[in-house]
Parts: sequence; structure tokens; C-alpha cells
Amino acid sequence: MTNKKNIVVLGSSRGIGKALVELLAQNENHHVIALSRNTEELASFCKLPQNITYGFVDVASEQVHQQLNKVLSEFNTIDVLINNAGKLVNKPFEELSRKEIDSCYQTNAVGVMFATQYFIPKMRDHGGHIVNISTVGAFQGSVKFPGLSAYSTSKAGITSFTELFAEEYKETPIRMNCLCLGAVQTEMLSEAFPGLQVPTSPEEMAAYIADFSLSGHQYFNGKILPVSASTP
Ligand SMILES: NC(=O)c1ccc[n+]([C@@H]2O[C@H](COP(=O)([O-])OP(=O)(O)OC[C@H]3O[C@@H](n4cnc5c(N)ncnc54)[C@H](OP(=O)(O)O)[C@@H]3O)[C@@H](O)[C@H]2O)c1
Repeated sequence: MTNKKNIVVLGSSRGIGKALVELLAQNENHHVIALSRNTEELASFCKLPQNITYGFVDVASEQVHQQLNKVLSEFNTIDVLINNAGKLVNKPFEELSRKEIDSCYQTNAVGVMFATQYFIPKMRDHGGHIVNISTVGAFQGSVKFPGLSAYSTSKAGITSFTELFAEEYKETPIRMNCLCLGAVQTEMLSEAFPGLQVPTSPEEMAAYIADFSLSGHQYFNGKILPVSASTP
């Protein structure tokens, strides 16, 4: 991979994803592609910098490959893909509807896996780093919290996918790793733990993820790494 990178942030209209786009675009050598459903929000911070392209993608949609192609058809190579899109449902297990469980899995597991397929031809020859953003709740042996069974088990899907992908693609120059994040002060955290204040800001976590995404492929492949400074 060169120092000039095409970097995709999937799930970037707010929180950690938005902070990632803003930070990565500060390096004018990079071209950052910001993807989410809320394009109005993307437009509000992506319009001015020349090195950001943004567009509509819903990872839970069956049309995700077509949606990705609309934004990315002119990019022959992608160096870094950060699978940051995430859907939270916080409800006691017995109250979860089939639709709510489905919605977590469609976004956090099925959607991320299906979207990732699109990027393989753009990484296969020159190499690439795919970073899956999971949760510490999906890390085996971590402290667990009630109400998060649909969310955390669906995130465990991409955690496990990371190991399986790395094995299947080990003869290629594509690397995949998974960061299992602890609590970061975002709107999603407020939905999971109302009123909780934690020491890590989205900007601080974005700085760690950005750094890892640009260099972690040199030392890690198929690794599941907890990134957590507090409980939760
Ligand atoms: N904050 C934490 O404490 C924490 C802890 C552990 C793990 N994480 C993980 O870190 C990532 C970022 O979290 P966050 O706290 O920044 O969450 P957030 O504020 O809720 O942001 C989630 C992002 O995902 C996008 N997204 C959701 N559904 C999508 C879909 N179907 N298609 C495309 N994009 C979609 C949203 O954009 P649109 O609505 O515009 O699509 C939004 O930009 C998530 O994967 C989350 O699970 C967060």
C-alpha cells in the first residue's frame, strides 16, 4: 500500500464514523469516501474538503452492491475499508421482536459481510486493510450487560467473520482485523446506557482507529482486539 490511500468509512454520518472521516481527510494525500444512509448529515460536513466523496449506502439493503457501485465505480483501488456501521437495540431479551433481532443482524452481521464482498476486487492485487468495528460485548469472556443480546450477538458475527476471512484470504495481500470497542461518548452509547458519562470521546477513539487502519495490517491479520479504557 502507498502513502496515498483511498479510505472508505462505512457508517459515517455521526459519532465515531464522522470523527474518522474528518480526521482522515486532514491528510490531503488521502481520499476519504464517507458512506451512510443520512446523506443530508454527510453533506453538512463532507461538501467542502476536496478529498472527500460521500454517498448513500444502506448496508442492510439487498441492493448494497449497486449502491456502493454508484459512489465507488471510478475508484479502481481501495486501500482501507472501515466497517463502522452499527445498529443498536437495547431491550430485555423476552421483549425483543423478530424484526428487532433481524434489524441488528441485517446491519451488523449480514450487511457488513455482504458489503465487504464488493471491495475484494478493488483490493485483491495491490492489497488492502479491512477493519471491522465490533464491541467489547462481543469479545469472549468480557463483562456483559442486560438488554444487549440482539446487538452484541450480531456484532459477534463480524468478530468471528474476521478470523474466517483472514484464513480464506491468507494467500492474498488483503488483511482483516476487528476492533472490539469499549464505551465511547456517542448517541449510541446514550441509547445503550442512558446518562452514562465515559472518558473516551469519538475523536479520541477515531484517532486510534485511524492509526490502526493505516498501519495495523503490517503486524495483525485475523485478530480480534479489545480497545477499552472503561467498563462499560
Ligand atoms: N459508542 C460506543 O460506546 C461503542 C461501543 C462499542 C462499539 N461501537 C461501535 O462503533 C461503531 C460506531 O458507533 P457510534 O457510537 O459512533 O454509533 P452511532 O453514533 O449510532 O453511529 C452509527 C453510524 O452507523 C451508520 N449506520 C447505521 N445503520 C446503517 C446502515 N444500515 N447502513 C449504513 N450506515 C448505517 C449511521 O449512519 P446512518 O444512520 O446515516 O446510516 C451512523 O453514522 C458502531 O459499529 C458501534 O456498534 C460503539
